[in-house]
Amino acid sequence: MKLTSTILALSMAVAAGSIAASAGAQSAAEASGPASPTGVHGGDTDGAFINARSFSEPDGEKLYRRVCAGCHMPDAKGAQGAGMYPALAGNQNLASGDYAVYVVLKGMHGMPGVGRMMTDAQVAEVVNYVRTHFGNKYRDKVTAAQVSAVR
Ligand code: HEC
Repeated sequence: MKLTSTILALSMAVAAGSIAASAGAQSAAEASGPASPTGVHGGDTDGAFINARSFSEPDGEKLYRRVCAGCHMPDAKGAQGAGMYPALAGNQNLASGDYAVYVVLKGMHGMPGVGRMMTDAQVAEVVNYVRTHFGNKYRDKVTAAQVSAVR
């Protein structure tokens, strides 16, 4: 019994060691920069974040690329696999600006409320960007005041 638990403890220590080693290798790879798959670097070298809880980027297109594209894809056509990520391209639900603002602020099932980490102006920018790109032609812009009312 004692021997078994010693062996178990030893093998766990070895496993933990190899996990630590591979984590080290991974963060070294991330630190090297351009290979990072998301384009968001740990040390905020590109200024995408003010801190871990808020985005500093004011531009709707860049916010889309950084925050939304990871799930909805760069072409906004969505994805299906481990989860279902709806297409925002040609999406009639976007006819309602308030609806889009609501989803971005509050989240929806598998989507976190990423707008909580943005200012009202940033939420308006990214929603306006999505509503006027990817085949969407909803030109009535949502305003920061509208976002504030939904928040
Ligand atoms: C972590 C993944 C993830 C991120 C990041 C994300 N979304 Fe989503 N989004 C989803 C999922 C999943 C749904 C579908 C939720 C459902 O219907 O259950 C969704 C739904 C939506 C919808 C509703 C679509 C419809 O047809 O009604 C809108 C609008 C939307 N997202 C916009 C955005 C915008 C804009 C951003 C960036 C600011 C964003 N999302 C970021 C995963 C994400």
